[in-house]
Amino acid sequence: MAGPKKTSPVAIVMGSDSDLEVMQSCIDQLKEFGIEPTVRILSAHRTPDAAGDFARKAAENGIQVIIAAAGMAAHLAGVLAGQTPLPIVGVPLAAKEGLLGLDALLSMVQMPPGVPVATMAIGRAGAKNAAIFAVQILALKDNKLSERLAAFRKSQTEKVLAKDAQLNC
Ligand code: RP5
Repeated sequence: MAGPKKTSPVAIVMGSDSDLEVMQSCIDQLKEFGIEPTVRILSAHRTPDAAGDFARKAAENGIQVIIAAAGMAAHLAGVLAGQTPLPIVGVPLAAKEGLLGLDALLSMVQMPPGVPVATMAIGRAGAKNAAIFAVQILALKDNKLSERLAAFRKSQTEKVLAKDAQLNC
């Protein structure tokens, strides 16, 4: 039986194991910053009690940011946001069929006033940015992480400028 896993300042919750392939880039990006996230599969629709329970206990379990990823009628991020004061970063995903993630984006981003979800781009870009956004939040009170973030941004800038310099057209 799945129980609480070891805690981390960042939890990634996804609606289905079918979301893992895309969310692996979020996990990998967090690991690059030295953060081993807690990863759970919980659904707003299929496991509503477990999802609510997770959100209600998240702060006392040491979690500081929750990344919530889901596809289709993606209510997971919003449902978690309603159950915890922790910041929720949402990643809308494209399901294999249907509306290519637009369904998830609109379900996730259009939160009623008072219960925000910081919604990222659809898919892999959003998954990676969710990790970086979580790091940005944690870096406000973590100098080491702040330095890693600055190094990441510098390296990213240098890579683009190097490509620019190599252009022959
Ligand atoms: C959502 O429905 C999940 O987040 C997933 O993106 C989508 C399809 O789920 P599966 O049918 O693949 O489990 O709840």
